[in-house]
Amino acid sequence: MRFPRIRALLLLPAALAFVQPSTRHRRAQPLYVGTSLDDFPAARCAPAVPLKLTGKLPQWLTGAVVRNGPGRFTTAKQNCSHLFDGMALLSRFEVDGASNSVKWTSRYLQSKAYEYARKEGGLLYNEFGTAAGVGLVGRAVSLMRGVLAGGTTDNACVSVVPTADGGAVCLSEPTRASYVIDPRTLETLGAHSYKGSDLPGLLHTAHPIPYGDGFVNVATALFPVPKYTVYKSDGNFQHPRRICDLEPSQAFPDVSWHHSFAVGGRYAIVIETPCVYNVAALVGVADAAHIAFDWRDDAPTTLRVVDIEKGEEVASRKLHEPCFFFHAANAFVDGTTLHVDVGYYDDASMLNGLALDRMRAAPATDGATPSRLTRLSIELESDADVRTTRLDGPAAGDFCEFPVVDPRLEGRRHRFVYAVGLKRPGNVGNLLTRTDCDTGETIANGFGAVVVGEALVVPRPGVPDDYVVMVVVHDAAGDAHLIVASPALEELARATLPEGGVPYGFHSCWIPEA
Ligand SMILES: [Fe+2]
Repeated sequence: MRFPRIRALLLLPAALAFVQPSTRHRRAQPLYVGTSLDDFPAARCAPAVPLKLTGKLPQWLTGAVVRNGPGRFTTAKQNCSHLFDGMALLSRFEVDGASNSVKWTSRYLQSKAYEYARKEGGLLYNEFGTAAGVGLVGRAVSLMRGVLAGGTTDNACVSVVPTADGGAVCLSEPTRASYVIDPRTLETLGAHSYKGSDLPGLLHTAHPIPYGDGFVNVATALFPVPKYTVYKSDGNFQHPRRICDLEPSQAFPDVSWHHSFAVGGRYAIVIETPCVYNVAALVGVADAAHIAFDWRDDAPTTLRVVDIEKGEEVASRKLHEPCFFFHAANAFVDGTTLHVDVGYYDDASMLNGLALDRMRAAPATDGATPSRLTRLSIELESDADVRTTRLDGPAAGDFCEFPVVDPRLEGRRHRFVYAVGLKRPGNVGNLLTRTDCDTGETIANGFGAVVVGEALVVPRPGVPDDYVVMVVVHDAAGDAHLIVASPALEELARATLPEGGVPYGFHSCWIPEA
């Protein structure tokens, strides 16, 4: 999750107005988050090692989990203050059901941001929640250095997307934070080229959605004319072509932040929440309510429906209840109704809850804002407002994040949604949940952990309803584990990483052949 620093506004006088105290410090890691927010030493980036395994992997499970996420939050000169700021660390878990074994390795993405942090001991670019440089002069100099090095950060720490050519692309929201990697070795192969048009521009979501033989994604332009663009690329995430431009619904110059969107059937659903960019905060000359965003209390949320095949907007529907979300699990069409399932918050304060000091706070301050799995329903043939239905049950606690479904069902009706829940007290999700959308029943398993990451649903080839659910968890004793669970969240196998393992991650993918 990244945002741009607009070059035109990066003027030295403005830079000199920056005031930010140094966040340089080291902390003892509280039991609440285990080792999930520790730096991962670069010296531990080594060839794959076998992990201690308990339990039994399914015989058919052969492939690799490749995961992206923040691996390093500190430098010699300056520390990061937000979860989204850490340098991208790639981890690969090579799973072999036949031999009942798991091997693991991790490597840092070789971005300019990472190389600078490693060699110079500081931040090259302003990151999501941390401006580069310490003190007035340091920040001014850092800003100019970052501008000369490309402007926005290239720290692609959010997602990793397999491509048709057997490779993978790591992404964050600034377009230049796009890197090609070899998913077998985790080697950084170079900056990704989109090839073919002016798209995606400066910003897009880090969550392109497979569609047909390629991907659909949403780009955002802040200047000179604010707009959202739904676009489609080929299977290698190249040659993007415009499907539809959308003029923002909010009053000029408000532009909604889009971390993700949804696709159901032939429709892309762009959800404009009241969380809007604060341009002054983006360049560091003002504070915003939520890191670099403001919240428009009176603004409705607007769901914009684009027919991907026709290349036009076919519906725009209002939701008058406060709504914020990071991720949609899935969307699908049922008759003339379009449903979108999201992890639903009442406002954007969760962005503040992901500040590292709040995540690490002990005793827990319950910094994670309550959220719930919610279905947003749009009537395609009437102008009715969006209808909301809560889907999850008490077992999820009062939290829902990283909702996912069996990837074979993306764009089609699903029954089960897997997500991260939270049993309080706690600042971070600590349950893996499964909600049956047909019955409203939620089941949960914490696997004895204090931090639970995003679930990865790995289908059993050729067996439509069979799959496993894989997740990396951290326990209070300081260990990290890769858990392989059944569809009903029963633990099948546990691979324990050495020396505390790897830090918290964001998103992962499955590479079928190891
Ligand atoms: Fe995400």
